[in-house]
Amino acid sequence: MNQNDVITISVIAGDGIGPEVVSEGLKVLEAGMGNAKLNIVPVDLGADRWLRTGEVLPDAELQQLAQSDAILLGAVGAAPGSKQIPSGLLERNLLLKLRFTFDQYINLRPSKLYPGAKTPLADWVVAQGPIDFVVIREGTEGLYCGNGGAVRVDTPQEIANEVSVNTAYGVERVVADAFSRALTRGGKVTLVHKHNVLVNAGGLWNRIFQRYSQQHPEVETDYLHIDAATIAMVQNPQRFDVIVTDNLFGDIITDLAGAITGGIGLAASANINAAGVFPSMFEPVHGSAPDIAGLGIADPTATILSTALMLQHLGYTEAAARIEAAVDADISERGDTKRTTSEIGDAIASRL
Ligand code: IPM
Ligand code: MN
Repeated sequence: MNQNDVITISVIAGDGIGPEVVSEGLKVLEAGMGNAKLNIVPVDLGADRWLRTGEVLPDAELQQLAQSDAILLGAVGAAPGSKQIPSGLLERNLLLKLRFTFDQYINLRPSKLYPGAKTPLADWVVAQGPIDFVVIREGTEGLYCGNGGAVRVDTPQEIANEVSVNTAYGVERVVADAFSRALTRGGKVTLVHKHNVLVNAGGLWNRIFQRYSQQHPEVETDYLHIDAATIAMVQNPQRFDVIVTDNLFGDIITDLAGAITGGIGLAASANINAAGVFPSMFEPVHGSAPDIAGLGIADPTATILSTALMLQHLGYTEAAARIEAAVDADISERGDTKRTTSEIGDAIASRL
């Protein structure tokens, strides 16, 4: 893309702290874009929309999202005091529906312990060296497909199934992405799975991983079962560069990864359709945090870093690096000062 392009970004600010963090994300994006122009299109979706109209993802909104260059999402989830939203409704019919419909198969979640960020890790662990890895979580398959059912519900004989879907096509494209990302980073990929128990799915993942490993001797490879990976993440996270894993293992391990690298307020993510056929979606890993919504105290850093991932994906590599550097500088100086959401946004934007 050229610096004179107009980039159309659909913005689902969503619920709770979503609108607060998104407005800081957009502030920083505007400041960091250089000459490129943003065409921001707000898209009203989430719990509030459902409570008002009973609609989760109408066709008109889906069309708008499909036409954009990228999607920025704040957070979706019920507001305080609102009537109960059925568990899974927004997750399945909005968030996951978007990831699936737009075939966002690379769920990219970087984890970097910025100097100055707080970590619950022991000093001896931090002293081992910089912590800087990315998790590539498969985004369209696994246990997230909704491939299941239940019979005799609510009886003592109830049977409930959730079947994990793993296709050679789906696994290969994330493994390929992991190997090519490793070449632009530290040159190492770790497969995380549980192939000693999940012999069918794990076998498929492992065989494809081994094939890529043989084809790419320049990339160092490693394997950990998911349980052992949680130990490594708190005792020796420096061993990771690129982690590739399935949808549910990736969900779990990226919460842990966020927790050890400054907390959920800093954790950014990208849902990428690497084939470029559909728009990709960028969102903080955190949720709508209704308990602190409206107080102006949410940390917008995760959303700001997600905008950097967006620029990176759209090919604005330098602008993305500038935003990341501004965040890095802000984190290293923030100490224990309490700042409002917009003060953090202003401080980061003013460095651009
Ligand atoms: C995440 C979230 C989602 C997921 C939920 C809200 C469906 O936990 O983005 O990590 O499980 O993917
Ligand atoms: Mn999660």
